[in-house]
Amino acid sequence: MPANVHVIDHPVVQHKLTRMRRKDTDSAEFRRLVREISLLFAYEVTRDLPMATAEIETPVARMVAPVLADRAMCFISILRAGNGIVDGMLEVLPNARVGHVGIYRDPETLVAIEYYFKVPEDADQRHMVVADPMLATANSAIAAIRRLKEIGPLSLKLVCLVAAPEGIAAFQAEHPDVPIYTAAIDERLNEHGYIVPGLGDAGDRIFGTK
Ligand code: PRP
Ligand code: URA
Repeated sequence: MPANVHVIDHPVVQHKLTRMRRKDTDSAEFRRLVREISLLFAYEVTRDLPMATAEIETPVARMVAPVLADRAMCFISILRAGNGIVDGMLEVLPNARVGHVGIYRDPETLVAIEYYFKVPEDADQRHMVVADPMLATANSAIAAIRRLKEIGPLSLKLVCLVAAPEGIAAFQAEHPDVPIYTAAIDERLNEHGYIVPGLGDAGDRIFGTK
């Protein structure tokens, strides 16, 4: 296992990923599975979130209890497929802020092309979790995180559902400091830059565009 890569091997995550991979899983079910698997990812990536305390009153007594520190999180969706993951993670942390980086892969060159960039004003005071279901060549994630580093967040993590070994190597060559959280490291990329066995085109499967 490469350093700084966390494979979420929880049985429920693995079961849901297998259902997502099946080619006969339709868009409605695929979308639901992305949301569900993302709830479970949210627990993993927020394990080390900063905590504060608050004085509260239970029905029985006063106590000082743990709470999440203010303004802790910012989820970043790499459009468009990252939206599926961010929607799920927001159910766990509804007060997190959300940013969007619009990037698509040129189908011929596989180069990442940015078309949109909007993050919260106070993103430099937040921990960022960047979401994109697929880490294939990693061109998209590399470019997105290069831009986000210019903002200087408190920390950065990358969440993907399926990663290719080639993508992990390329990503870590440029961003060795950014941990990768994934449910699977697959065999390889094919000649079109798709992950094998993978799950196909994540955006098309979430939004039913093909
Ligand atoms: C897909 C996927 C990732 C990217 C991964 O997006 O959602 O963003 O490809 O490939 P890479 O690691 O080789 O860059 P796509 O370009 O198809 O755009 P979309 O989300 O708008 O469909
Ligand atoms: N983008 C996807 O959606 N799937 C892949 O396998 C590769 C890139």
